[in-house]
Amino acid sequence: MFRLRFLTAGESHGKGLTGIIEGIPANLQITPDYINRQLSRRQAGFGRGGRMRIESDMVEFISGIRWGVTIGSPVALFIENRDWKNWQEGMSPLAEEKGSVPPVTRPRPGHADLPGATKYHQDDIRNILERSSARETAIRVAIGAIARRFLEEFGITVGGFVTAIGNASMSIDPSVLKEEDLKALSGSAEDSDVRCPEDDTAIRMKEAIEKATGEGYSLGGTFLVHAVGLPVGLGSHIQWDRRLDGRLAHAFMGIQAIKGVEIGNGFELAARPGAEVMDEIYPSPDTESPKSVLRKTNHAGGIEGGITNGMPVVVRAVMKPIPTQHKPLRSVDIVTGEPFEATYERSDVCAVPAASVIGEAVMSLVIADALLEKFGGDSMEETKRNYENYLKNM
Ligand SMILES: Cc1cc2nc3c(=O)[nH]c(=O)nc-3n(C[C@H](O)[C@H](O)[C@H](O)COP(=O)(O)O)c2cc1C
Repeated sequence: MFRLRFLTAGESHGKGLTGIIEGIPANLQITPDYINRQLSRRQAGFGRGGRMRIESDMVEFISGIRWGVTIGSPVALFIENRDWKNWQEGMSPLAEEKGSVPPVTRPRPGHADLPGATKYHQDDIRNILERSSARETAIRVAIGAIARRFLEEFGITVGGFVTAIGNASMSIDPSVLKEEDLKALSGSAEDSDVRCPEDDTAIRMKEAIEKATGEGYSLGGTFLVHAVGLPVGLGSHIQWDRRLDGRLAHAFMGIQAIKGVEIGNGFELAARPGAEVMDEIYPSPDTESPKSVLRKTNHAGGIEGGITNGMPVVVRAVMKPIPTQHKPLRSVDIVTGEPFEATYERSDVCAVPAASVIGEAVMSLVIADALLEKFGGDSMEETKRNYENYLKNM
């Protein structure tokens, strides 16, 4: 992050989750309802476990916002964990309140449990799993909602949808999807509880989740996130860490359980001849702006040389199957050294729809950061002035 920075804190069964974001200009209007809408999108989805019924996340503004408007100082947000009342003893920060909750000594394969306990020298794996849990993504979505609100002021919108759950997938070619196609697809996904815009694929996805639930295994999948309405020129070719594609890949890979990211046509490009997959440049029919050009395809996913080229930015990501499942997995107790088969705990069977909402949040953060890097500004008025001036003089 260059102009924005944010941090999250909080344990899964602690008092709650805290987030701080710094760098959002003053005078951006924002309401708790706007953020809560994103939080409830993250919580929905066919295939989620019991926790989603306990939690109905609500954000509280702690600082940086006055009378519904940002004031330029760091914005701090808080989301209470509704389950905290049952964990006050087990998760108390105070030594004198130490409870009798037994330690977790059985690492779950596919989680941070074993490497985390080894690295942080812990005999109680709870000290690792409480933080590695994807519960943390609630506050990331809240912070991302502020970035999303900021981008709206520049006509930039971020959306997404699920493209596969297990073997149930929709065929999609990002190179032919125009801004309006992407908006229509993500719009229809809002009505689907697997966040898939294709009705017959959504039915197959739900059947796959039902089968997995019945047979005791979990499922992963893929999702697509897009940003439209972007100007040319966000990100830069001049240094590896300023490339927007790299920044996006980092942000998506920073989501728990994400194991692969592609921009535009991504991995499929490996097998195609070069002449087929470059997005050729044509003169624009717009006679009022003689220098503007036209692309008929978008294999590059809106980024060339690490810089936005004005086409929609399109990212797809792969989520692995949820590690916790009914089918027992072999592991070894870290205290006794005894092998065992992990017993089942309450868990999601599939969380790809939620992951796609988290993907939208991190995309919003990366694009907002790149926009502020390019246009600067300490108030919305200043950032907008700089932005409009750039567009006028292109
Ligand atoms: C939205 C979301 C929900 C998740 N729910 C669960 C869950 O209920 N049970 C579980 O074992 N893992 C769940 N995971 C996956 C783990 O958080 C993740 O696999 C684990 O933290 C290990 O990280 P890694 O897969 O990136 O190595 C979820 C992930 C996401 C993004």
